[in-house]
Amino acid sequence: MKKVVLAYSGGLDTSVAIKWLKDKGYEVIAYMADVGQEKTTTAAVERAKKAGASKVVVKDLKRKFAADYIWPALKAGAVYEGRYTLATALSRPLIAAEQVAVAHAEKATAVAHGCTGKGNDQVRFEVTTQALDGSLEIIAPVREWEFKSREEEIRYAKRHRIPIDVTKKSPFSIDKNIWGVSVEAGVLEDPNVEPPQASFQWTRGAESRNPKERAIEIQFEKGVPVGLEGKRLDALKLILRLNALGSEYGIGRMDMIENRLVGIKSRETYEAPAATILNQAHKDLESLVLDRELLHFKEGIAQKYAELVYYGLWFTPLRVALDRFVEETQKNVSGSVRVKLRKYSSQVVGRKSPHSLYRESLATYGAKDKFDQRLAKGFIDLWALPYKK
Ligand code: ARG
Repeated sequence: MKKVVLAYSGGLDTSVAIKWLKDKGYEVIAYMADVGQEKTTTAAVERAKKAGASKVVVKDLKRKFAADYIWPALKAGAVYEGRYTLATALSRPLIAAEQVAVAHAEKATAVAHGCTGKGNDQVRFEVTTQALDGSLEIIAPVREWEFKSREEEIRYAKRHRIPIDVTKKSPFSIDKNIWGVSVEAGVLEDPNVEPPQASFQWTRGAESRNPKERAIEIQFEKGVPVGLEGKRLDALKLILRLNALGSEYGIGRMDMIENRLVGIKSRETYEAPAATILNQAHKDLESLVLDRELLHFKEGIAQKYAELVYYGLWFTPLRVALDRFVEETQKNVSGSVRVKLRKYSSQVVGRKSPHSLYRESLATYGAKDKFDQRLAKGFIDLWALPYKK
């Protein structure tokens, strides 16, 4: 029998997909990637088995996610359309790459995912699969099957005794991992409707909390966050700590209309406290240690990098080449940044680095001034020369 490895989330779609794939003649291996979505529970594993999976493979990818996907994107300064810190987009190539590895280990000839035909995630999954193993068959049940509504799908599940998650289904579509939460659908489909409290997953209730303003200090080494308040922390702990802390303040909420790769505009809200704080701090430290030309050039790279991630082009020569460039830019990005946490916002209030290019003796308006102001006239005259003539 042909074997397929299905990226299984534990939800209704992928549970039904197990049965659907079996009916198409496949032996189904359910693969669950743990990127911090808190859904890879034993209950979910049981559901997959009851739905008919011959085997369930769970992979804890959280550390790999942080080290090999999140940190490179942070170093690049990748933020899509100025706001989205790419939590969902960054996780897909990792999940898909590990899925290919499971397919190889299990000698499967096909992979399947539960993405719809309207989103970016199908693209990210399938481009990754094709880039890593073009011989694998790709099946997208949700894109193909005949169900016209969720109700119809639930009826099918009941008829075939496919267990479904008994916890109440959220009226929103939620994707969560350690780098952030993405929320869409439901009332959010009207771009003029304010996100209701119920749509917030991590920062809910921030409105009624009044945590005390506080400054935290984040240590960086070569562009990578390595500690908090002078204490070294591994990547995962540091991210989780900042998510917990930032959520208290309601930091990292984003509400945006974004341009999907498939050509439609969609309304999505995000909560990404750690990503927001770390991007701010990292960018600020760069402004202290990178010279002007490199800093400005790198801003263009950041945008390109964000597009590559968003468009599912992680496993491509350009992304690899950009990583090499970015790595070179980070050798002096070490030091620490003080960030003040306030209700709904964070702000950098101080930064220091042994590689600082800031010279007080040049910048000062005080008595210690070493800047020879007489030189300015000649500089300006030459700068203006082409325009004067
Ligand atoms: N729009 C985001 C992206 O394409 C998130 C997609 C998943 N969002 C969700 N709410 N299920 O990366």
